Amino acid sequence: MPEAIEREADFLREYVGHVEIQTNEVQRAWALLPCFLELARWSRSNRFDLVELGTSAGLLLLWDRYRYRYAAGQWGGKGAALDLTGEERSAIPPELLRIVPRVRRRVGIDRNPLDLRNPEDLLLLKSFVWAGQEERLARLDAAAAALRDDPPELVRGDIVERLPAELAHRSEEALTVVLNSAALGYLDEAGRKRVRDELERAGEAGPLAYVTTTRPANGTDRHWALAIELWPEGGRREVAYADFHGAWLEWRG
Ligand SMILES: C[S@@+](CC[C@H](N)C(=O)[O-])C[C@H]1O[C@@H](n2cnc3c(N)ncnc32)[C@H](O)[C@@H]1O
Repeated sequence: MPEAIEREADFLREYVGHVEIQTNEVQRAWALLPCFLELARWSRSNRFDLVELGTSAGLLLLWDRYRYRYAAGQWGGKGAALDLTGEERSAIPPELLRIVPRVRRRVGIDRNPLDLRNPEDLLLLKSFVWAGQEERLARLDAAAAALRDDPPELVRGDIVERLPAELAHRSEEALTVVLNSAALGYLDEAGRKRVRDELERAGEAGPLAYVTTTRPANGTDRHWALAIELWPEGGRREVAYADFHGAWLEWRG
């Protein structure tokens, strides 16, 4: 390995100078699943159209194809490609695990989407996993397998520019759920405001939901708060705290 780095030093120097960091941490689905289930319970909607902002390869759009373990029980099919678990600092309620929303449509926006059916894109995504984190590499392989036969729709473009068109696709047959997982932090203040304004505008016009990783109201920057939001009536709730990569979850309800 060190010899390869020396041999390819010129290429690597040039390459790392322009390639953008790409991560798609599928373990975050373990922390996000209870948010989707709570949203289904709260909204009384059992059918979702998902729109993810900064989706990377779209692995979080496939959360309903994975299997999950929590203290209160399990969720997802036994034959699922991926089995996710983590540290629950405060357990999720068992009744949530009986809710099974159906995902009708899944669209992800990214300025550099990766198509994991392409071995080079998978290799690129894996190259950003820190050395020694074998379990993250194994999760990426399993999630790529779950995606292969029926991948999500990936839209190349800027979140701010593309969001209005995606929200214009809303239908009464499913609740449109916008997801931000570790993406809006890459926008500047003006970009985040435009996303917020667009969500508010669309929410006033019809049913809309939002699941987001965000800075906790108590101001800490050591972990995330997971918030869910429902329009036109409903409001916003911080339902959990979670590790940045989904390793632990503290359900607050
Ligand atoms: C840290 S990754 C998170 C990926 C995924 N949501 C997850 O949680 O695993 C952030 C992603 O946002 C994308 N991104 C950042 N700024 C963007 C923008 N202005 N428009 C579109 N995509 C953007 C990046 O290309 C990257 O794929």
